[in-house]
Amino acid sequence: MSNKAIYVQAGGGYDKVVVGTCEAPAPAAGEISVRLYASSLNYHDFAVVSGMWGPSEARIPMADGAGEVVAVGAGVSEFAVGDAVVSTFFPDWVDGEPNVEGFARVPGDGIDGYARETVTAPATAFTRAPKGWSHAEAATLTTAGLTAWRALIEDGRLKAGDTVLVQGTGGVSVFALQFAKMLGATVIATSSSDEKLERMQALGADHLINYRRDAQWGATARQLTGGRGVDHVIEVGGPDTLAQSMDAARVGGHVSVIGILTGVTGQLAVVPALIKQLRLQGVLVGSRRQQQDMVRAIDANGMRPMLDRHFDLDGICDAFRYQETNQHFGKIVLDY
Ligand SMILES: NC(=O)c1ccc[n+]([C@@H]2O[C@H](COP(=O)([O-])OP(=O)(O)OC[C@H]3O[C@@H](n4cnc5c(N)ncnc54)[C@H](OP(=O)(O)O)[C@@H]3O)[C@@H](O)[C@H]2O)c1
Repeated sequence: MSNKAIYVQAGGGYDKVVVGTCEAPAPAAGEISVRLYASSLNYHDFAVVSGMWGPSEARIPMADGAGEVVAVGAGVSEFAVGDAVVSTFFPDWVDGEPNVEGFARVPGDGIDGYARETVTAPATAFTRAPKGWSHAEAATLTTAGLTAWRALIEDGRLKAGDTVLVQGTGGVSVFALQFAKMLGATVIATSSSDEKLERMQALGADHLINYRRDAQWGATARQLTGGRGVDHVIEVGGPDTLAQSMDAARVGGHVSVIGILTGVTGQLAVVPALIKQLRLQGVLVGSRRQQQDMVRAIDANGMRPMLDRHFDLDGICDAFRYQETNQHFGKIVLDY
C-alpha cells in the first residue's frame, strides 16, 4: 500500500516542509483504511504549515481528506471497500451539542492529518462523500463546507426568504452562498474585487457590495433589505469587520462568528449588540452528524463546489503561497 506523506517539522514554516513516508497498518476493529486522493486548503491549515500556529512536533498537515475505502476493520458496517469518503474535522464529535474545545484532536493540527496517500483511522474520522463528486470536490467539505452548513442551517435555522450576507469569496463564503441559494434565501455578497463579485452573481448572489470601495457596507446591506437588516451574517473577517456585520444585521439577527482574516483582537462597541439583541454565535466547524446531513442535502440538490487551482501533493507550499495572494475564488485543492 502506498504511503507517501508530507510532514511539517516542529515550529512550522515552508522551509520545514519535507516529503516522507508514514505507516499504513491494516485496520483494527472500528477502523477503516482509506487511499486518499485529494485535500483542500483552509486558513487553519495555512496557519499550521506556515508556522503561524506551527506544530510542537513533526506533523502531517491538512484537515481535509477525500478518497476511497481500501480495507474495513471488524465491526464496521457503515463502509465497504470502494466507498468514496471524506474526512471529518472532529472525529470525536459525532453528534449532539459541541463537545470539543480547540484543535487538540483535529487532524492536521493536534494529530496527523491527510497530506498523505493512505491512512488508517476510526470510522468516525470519515463520512460518505456526495454521490458523483470527484475526490477533489469532496475534499472541500470537511472544513469550509461544514462550517458554512452549520452556521446557516444548524445554528441559523435558515429558511426560504431569509437574507444572508457573506463576506469575501473564500471557501467558507462561497459555500455559504451556495447553501443559502439552495434553501431559497436572498444573498448579499461582498468582495474586494468587482470581478469576483460578478462570479458571485453568476452563482446566484442577489446583491453585490465592494467592501474596499464602501467602508460602510453594513449600512448599505441594511438599505438593500429595505431597512430591516439581514437575518444571517457569515462573519469571516474578525475584528475589523464585526462592527459592520452587526450594523448589517436585523434586530434579533444572527451573526456567525467564524473567521479571523483581519486579526484576533480589536476594539468593539458592545452596545449595538444589546440594542439589536443580536445572536453572536461562535462557530468551530461542526459534528459528524451535521456533515452527514450536509452530504444528504447535497445529494438531493445536485450542487457542486467551486474549485479554484489544483496543485499536487509535493506542491503544497506553492499552494499555500497562492492562497496568501487572495487571488482564489472558492477552494484551492491538492490532488494526489
Ligand atoms: N470557525 C471555523 O469553524 C472556521 C472554519 C473555516 C474557516 N474559518 C476562518 O474563516 C476565515 C475564512 O476562511 P476561508 O477558508 O474561507 O478563507 P479563504 O478561502 O482563504 O478566504 C479568503 C477570502 O476572504 C476575503 N477576505 C479577506 N479579508 C477580508 C476582509 N477584511 N473582509 C472581507 N473579506 C475578506 C477575501 O475575499 P475577496 O478576495 O473576495 O475580497 C479572500 O479572498 C478564516 O479566518 C478561517 O480561519 C473558521
